[in-house]
Amino acid sequence: MNITEALPKRFSCRAFDTREVEAEKLDLLRSEVERANAESGLHLQLFGPGEGRLDLSKKMFAGEAPCYLAFVGEDTPVGKERAGYFGERVVLSATALGLGTCWVAGTFDRKTVVAEVGEGEVLHDVIPFGYAPAKQPLKQRTIRAGIRSRDRKPSSYLEGIASYDEAPAWIRAGIDAVIAGPSAVNGQPVTFTWDGTTLTATLRTHKLKLEETDLGIAKLHFELAAAAAGQPGSWQWGDGAAYVTA
Ligand SMILES: Cc1cc2nc3c(=O)[nH]c(=O)nc-3n(C[C@H](O)[C@H](O)[C@H](O)COP(=O)(O)O)c2cc1C
Repeated sequence: MNITEALPKRFSCRAFDTREVEAEKLDLLRSEVERANAESGLHLQLFGPGEGRLDLSKKMFAGEAPCYLAFVGEDTPVGKERAGYFGERVVLSATALGLGTCWVAGTFDRKTVVAEVGEGEVLHDVIPFGYAPAKQPLKQRTIRAGIRSRDRKPSSYLEGIASYDEAPAWIRAGIDAVIAGPSAVNGQPVTFTWDGTTLTATLRTHKLKLEETDLGIAKLHFELAAAAAGQPGSWQWGDGAAYVTA
């Protein structure tokens, strides 16, 4: 499975079982982390079994997370956006390897995280990962269903000269992949504008201070799905930036 095929399989996994993550899978993820750091200037760090504890809120999570990623980087809007874009690439790689993941910015104890945080850097988020139980416990399924019931409709995602239904197939595919993606408290803060030539992505709110991370995640999801629908390209960085077709 590649990361595009992993898009519909990913969900926020809030329960983990005790099955160990194989060393080969950890090695593959470590090389994904290295690649992400080299391309982004971020300081993502991976902690394998026994390499550091992560104290997740018992209100949201069941079971100890066997491993986690710590997303450290510069404390700027683009630093957060890059954490979202490159972090989600690692998340989808983990999904493709059959592992469960969850972005966590709030419901964990920051003091338990042993990540290296350099001058001018902050710990943005953590991502616990490991094997999910065969079935997520009822409580975790209820949490997800509750949050997901607030999903925005596809038609609300597109502004400009065309409605969602009239838009080119690659724009609709991109939006569908953005809706399927994670965002903090499922805020789904990104809106797209299409003028017939250029597509831009804009944040409609900045309430949580996590929206730039959501924007980076949304841009990756969009790119993967639009490429699969025949319109490869890449987003420029920033709020209001354009999709540059290849
Ligand atoms: C930047 C970011 C921060 C998040 N922080 C938390 C968190 O602190 N606790 C939590 O349980 N889920 C957290 N989530 C997961 C979202 O609640 C989840 O992505 C959203 O509800 C959509 O559900 P899904 O990922 O299962 O599709 C976060 C997601 C993102 C992208």
